[in-house]
Amino acid sequence: MVNVLFAGTDENWNTYRELIPEALASRGVSANFTRDLPPETVDYIVYSPLGPVQDFAPFTRLKAVLSLWAGVEKVVGNKSLKVPLCRMVDGGLKKGMAEWVAGHCLRYHLGMDAHIVNPNAEWRSGMAPPLAEDRTIGILGLGELGQACAKALNCLGFKVAGWSRSLKDVQGVACHAGESGLTALLGQSEILVLLLPQTPETTHIINAKTLAMLPKGACILNPGRGPLIDDDALLDALDTGHIASATLDVFAKEPLPEGHPYWAHQRVTVTPHIASETRPKSAAEVVADNVARGESGKPLLFVVDRSVGY
Ligand SMILES: NC(=O)c1ccc[n+]([C@@H]2O[C@H](COP(=O)([O-])OP(=O)(O)OC[C@H]3O[C@@H](n4cnc5c(N)ncnc54)[C@H](OP(=O)(O)O)[C@@H]3O)[C@@H](O)[C@H]2O)c1
Repeated sequence: MVNVLFAGTDENWNTYRELIPEALASRGVSANFTRDLPPETVDYIVYSPLGPVQDFAPFTRLKAVLSLWAGVEKVVGNKSLKVPLCRMVDGGLKKGMAEWVAGHCLRYHLGMDAHIVNPNAEWRSGMAPPLAEDRTIGILGLGELGQACAKALNCLGFKVAGWSRSLKDVQGVACHAGESGLTALLGQSEILVLLLPQTPETTHIINAKTLAMLPKGACILNPGRGPLIDDDALLDALDTGHIASATLDVFAKEPLPEGHPYWAHQRVTVTPHIASETRPKSAAEVVADNVARGESGKPLLFVVDRSVGY
């Protein structure tokens, strides 16, 4: 019998209390899945940073921590964590992100706002948008979510460029890496999508210098993490008109504080960290897969490389 501790929120528990045992049973894993186990008996922890476990030291026989979140910046530096940390890579999360990114890209591509908000009822001709095939969208981060979005944008006909730490080969995507690759991607991205993890290297990657590299009138979508953007630099670039608009889903401080300039800015859309969320049904399968793999001696899936922070 394998002991799996659920260390998520109360709300998560109601969602997962049946899904995870069912997924484990369907893999032939006999498990004790509960929220209350003596730490020294726990084999796996199903983890959320909003849950009760912050100190892993008492979990002396722990084999792995299985995160319900894709982003692991809140746990990756935890010094008490000595076992593998697996992040969430879930088909539902990828589909949701591709839908959110495609929707917000189409809004900017088609110039929808000019027609949705037209208080003087003006008939403004000559505003037909270009074809998607004549528009380049750049994606910073060509991982699980970045590639899912690239595929969706490709299907809509956009030219897609992507940037990652290691150079990728993704069909339909002009792939870049390194500093010169970043410069090349930014120079052509009329819409820029941020899907990097939050690490020391990616913090404030969007700053006054990189914003200036974007074409005048570019739009930014940030469903990655708030600290990717230097907020003051973005507000300046919006005010000068160099950046036309931004849709921001994630922020340095969440919830975004009352009175933050983003709330009132006419060309900023705030969404409350809802771009995509872990979908319980598919996520339970991912958790169960990893427990089954761990128990049969197979390598775990989606193990975080703690040396790079994601
Ligand atoms: N807003 C939301 O609702 C929501 C939901 C889920 C996730 N997220 C965010 O989305 C992020 C991405 O998720 P994912 O599953 O796609 O992660 P992932 O598979 O780990 O992909 C991360 C990508 O970023 C690249 N990267 C990392 N550090 C870099 C650097 N210093 N320079 C250049 N490229 C770098 C990686 O390059 P390599 O491929 O070379 O490693 C990889 O392509 C998460 O970390 C999380 O913060 C947000």
